[in-house]
Amino acid sequence: MSYVPENQILYKTVGTCVEPLELQIERHGSVTIFTLKNTRFQPVATVCLDLETGTISNLLVDRPYRRKGLARELFSQIHAFAKEHTSLDRLKASTHPHNVGAKRLLKDLGYFRLDIFERRI
Ligand SMILES: CC(C)(COP(=O)(O)OP(=O)(O)OC[C@H]1O[C@@H](n2cnc3c(N)ncnc32)[C@H](O)[C@@H]1OP(=O)(O)O)[C@@H](O)C(=O)NCCC(=O)NCCS
Repeated sequence: MSYVPENQILYKTVGTCVEPLELQIERHGSVTIFTLKNTRFQPVATVCLDLETGTISNLLVDRPYRRKGLARELFSQIHAFAKEHTSLDRLKASTHPHNVGAKRLLKDLGYFRLDIFERRI
């Protein structure tokens, strides 16, 4: 696995996925899970954390890999990363009100909803 020698790399089989998945955490706070296909690593799930604001973004799991616990695994890694490498005391994520899956995921993971007021300046 010499293609990202400077990153922390874990090998694990996540959830009910039968294929081995590789999890990569980068120093700037993004977590990606790869799978090996035709001798090439391909990303199948990813999430980013803004290390200054604690904002989580770009959460995406490839369709065939959904409902296998990969988003849960991404969050577990991002929570551990934030605790260990930042002084953040909370993380934030936003989603479209109709995104039932993302809303349930966030609730399941202990996120609770705040109403946000904003205005143009
Ligand atoms: C939302 C998304 C990231 C979930 O990823 P995932 O890997 O399938 O989620 P997990 O398998 O880890 O699911 C964890 C929990 O989230 C909830 N959940 C996930 N997808 C769900 C869905 N489609 N409907 C209802 N609940 C869902 C469930 O509570 C699930 O637990 P369970 O499987 O034990 O019931 C994925 O569907 C996705 O990439 N969607 C498109 C992009 C998107 O909406 N991103 C979020 C923007 S904020």
